[in-house]
Amino acid sequence: MEYLRYPEYTGEALEQVLEPLTWLINDKKLHILACLYAETFADLAKESEEHFLPTPVTKLPTGKEKGKFLAIDVGGTNLRVGFVELLGNDGTTASEGNVPGVAQIRRSHEKAWPIEEHLKMDQAEDLFAWIGDCIAEVITDAMNAGVDDLGDEIALGITFSFPMKQDSLSEATLMPMGKGFAITSDVNLGNMLLSGYARHFEERTTNGDAQAENGSTEPSTKRRKVSKLPKLRVAAITNDTVATFASLAYAFKSAPNSRAAMGLIVGTGCNATIPMKLKALSDAKRQSVRLPDGADPEETKIVINTEWTIKGTDLPLDSIGMKTYWDEALDKASDAPGFQPFEYMTAGRYLGELVRLVMVDFMGRRGGGKDMPTALKEKNSISTTFLATVVAQDDDGLLYSKLDEMFPAPSKKSNFEWSVERVEMLRGVTRAVQVRSSALIAAATVGLLACVGEIDLEDPEAKGPGFSRHGNGDPTEGIDVSGATEELVVGYTGGTISRYPGFLETCQNWIDNLVSKGSPKNANKRVVLREATDGGIIGAAVLAGTTLNGS
Ligand code: GLC
Repeated sequence: MEYLRYPEYTGEALEQVLEPLTWLINDKKLHILACLYAETFADLAKESEEHFLPTPVTKLPTGKEKGKFLAIDVGGTNLRVGFVELLGNDGTTASEGNVPGVAQIRRSHEKAWPIEEHLKMDQAEDLFAWIGDCIAEVITDAMNAGVDDLGDEIALGITFSFPMKQDSLSEATLMPMGKGFAITSDVNLGNMLLSGYARHFEERTTNGDAQAENGSTEPSTKRRKVSKLPKLRVAAITNDTVATFASLAYAFKSAPNSRAAMGLIVGTGCNATIPMKLKALSDAKRQSVRLPDGADPEETKIVINTEWTIKGTDLPLDSIGMKTYWDEALDKASDAPGFQPFEYMTAGRYLGELVRLVMVDFMGRRGGGKDMPTALKEKNSISTTFLATVVAQDDDGLLYSKLDEMFPAPSKKSNFEWSVERVEMLRGVTRAVQVRSSALIAAATVGLLACVGEIDLEDPEAKGPGFSRHGNGDPTEGIDVSGATEELVVGYTGGTISRYPGFLETCQNWIDNLVSKGSPKNANKRVVLREATDGGIIGAAVLAGTTLNGS
C-alpha cells in the first residue's frame, strides 16, 4: 500500500531513507496534486461550513484610505499592538522617500509579547484581560510620549489568526481552532477584547485637587470621577491571511499587467485567502453576505478565508499517498488530532516536531534507542526556529555545539555522540521536510488560483484535452497572444516562509514550474510571491481605514 509508507532503514544511503518524504515531490505528482486541490477547493466552497468562509470584504482597499488606528494582531505565537497611520496616496505626487502611487503608512509605539503557554490554556476572560493590559501599555506609552491626538475613543483594527464567522467587519465569532489555545468557539471576539480592556478606561473615583473642566478648583474633600485611558471602538476584525492580502492591496501599485491576486501565510499556521464569486459558494454562505447596494449577486466577488489546512483539504494528499507514518504519528499526538492535517505537514508550529519524530525513529532503528539523548525523546524539543537558525545554516561549528548543548548523551556511561553521520542525517531530514512543505504550499497555491479561474490546469494524465478549470474547448482559447506577461501577485507573510532559508525560493520555483507546465494557456502568466511584511498588523488598520472612507 502506498499510503503510510514505512522506511526500511538498515543503513542504506540517506536518499533511500528519506524516500517516504521525497518520492512524490516531482513535477508530475505535484501537477496532479494541484489539479486535485482545485477540484477539492471548489467542492469545499460549495459544501463545507468550515472552509472557504466568506468575509465582509467585498472591495479591496484602494490605497487612498487615511486615518490613525490602533492595530492589534493576536497570532499563534505573539501578540503585537501598535499605532498605524494610513497616509494614503492620491496617485500623483511623490513626496520625500515616497513612490508615486504607492500608499504610505507610519507605525509607532509598537510592542510585541510572546503568548505564553499558560495564557493559551487560560479561560477566555483571563487571556483577554492580559491582552487588555498590553493594549493599555501601548496607549499609555503613546500618551506619555506626548501623543495628544487620540481623542476620547480610539478606533481599532484587529487581526486574529483563527477561523471566525463574520457577518459584518466589526464583529466576529470564533470557530473551533488549533494552535494550543483552550478558548472555546462561539466567543464574540470584539466584545471579549473590549471587556478585557474595560478596567483601563472605566471611570474611577479620586480625591484629586485637579483643575475641573470649568476651570474652578474643586475642594479636595469633594470626590470626582476621572477616566484613565481613552475608550476603544472596534472598527474592523479580520483573519490574519485576509489582513495580509488587504495590506498588499493597499501598498501595492497595481499596473495593467500586475495585480494582487491572493494572500498566503506560512508562519506558526498556514492559510490562504482569495476573492471568489458569490455564486461559487453554498446557499448558506451566500445568504450570510451583506452585499453593497446595487451589487450583482452573481458576479460580485468577496474575499474568502479558505482555512485550507482544516480536515477535508487533505483529501488530495491522501489520494496520492503523500502522508507518511511520521505525519500520522504527529497528527495523533497533536493538541487537536485530525483537525488541521495540512497544517501539520507545512506550518512552523510542526516542522521541528516532524523532524524530531523522523530522527528518533531512524536512530531507534539503528540500534541507538537506549542510548538516545533524553531531551530528543521529548515532544517539541526541536523547534522550527532551531531548524531555520541552526540546522539549515552552513555553520558546522554552531550546529555541533548547539546539538551537544541541547541534546547531550543520556548518561556519563553512554557512548552517544553527534557523529558526522547523525548530523548529516539531521540535515537531510530537515531539508526533506522543508522542501516537501514548500512544494505542497506551491501545489495548493496553484490549485487555488486554478479553482477561481486565474490560471489554467490541464489533466496531466489525460491523453487528449482533459480536465481543465477553464473548460475543454478551443485549445488556444484564453492564450494571450499579445505577448505581455500578466503578473498575479500572491502577498505572503509569516516567519516560516519569510525567514526559513530556502523556503521562499523553493516555493516560488515549484509555482513557476506548475504554472508553466500546467497548461499552454498560462504561457503569458506569472504567479509571483511578494512579501507583505507584517501584513497582519498593517492589514488590520487598512481594513479599519476602509470603514472610515466608506469604501
Ligand atoms: C491557522 C488558522 C488560520 C490562520 C492560520 C495562519 O491555520 O486556522 O485561521 O489564518 O493558522 O495564522
